[in-house]
Amino acid sequence: MSSSSSGLSSPRSFQPDSGQYLEKFFLDQLQDIYYAEQKIAQSLPKMQEAATTDELRDAFEDHLYQTQRHCRRLEKVFNMLGQRAEGKKCEAIEGIVREAESIINETEEDTMTRDAALIMAAQKVEHYEIATYGGLVQMAITMGQYEVAELLDRTLMEEEDTDLLLTEIAECEINVMAEFEGINEEQGEMGEEGEEEEEGEEGAGIESENAEENETR
Ligand SMILES: [Fe+2]
Ligand SMILES: [Fe+2]
Repeated sequence: MSSSSSGLSSPRSFQPDSGQYLEKFFLDQLQDIYYAEQKIAQSLPKMQEAATTDELRDAFEDHLYQTQRHCRRLEKVFNMLGQRAEGKKCEAIEGIVREAESIINETEEDTMTRDAALIMAAQKVEHYEIATYGGLVQMAITMGQYEVAELLDRTLMEEEDTDLLLTEIAECEINVMAEFEGINEEQGEMGEEGEEEEEGEEGAGIESENAEENETR
């Protein structure tokens, strides 16, 4: 990004009203993502409150501040292009956010399963943002709007970092602990009577297997 902006001091004029299709579409997508960022900023506190682990709560809190910065950055982009900052209703993010919030009702409170589900929902949001910013950056370069491209690319990189962080949080601990949640409860309900017996049998099984192996050598 930095190399493409070097040596080009005066940005090209941007006149989507003049009938240029690409400029018109670019402005449309800027308004779309501006709406999306605001919608995400509204939703993140709910997801933060619903999360089980402090780690995920902190990640959602950090991303809320980041999302607010993304809104300010987009306002700067609108300004640079001589356009009024306004959002245009984005049906896609409406649906993705609705799905994320429905997870709160569909999962048990204080479970790792809820966190695993919230992470997946949050990653769907991130991927929507990554797709949109990725496209916008390339279009801005095509139109010679290098400073705009650079600003949008900064946001794109932050979205990608968030996506990676969420993957790490899920893979390190949460998914593994979520895997055993329902199973443990079911086993507990089955009673503790057979537990010792089973362990004994298992141990004996291993011993006899080893004995067989030794015999064949
Ligand atoms: Fe964002
Ligand atoms: Fe994001």
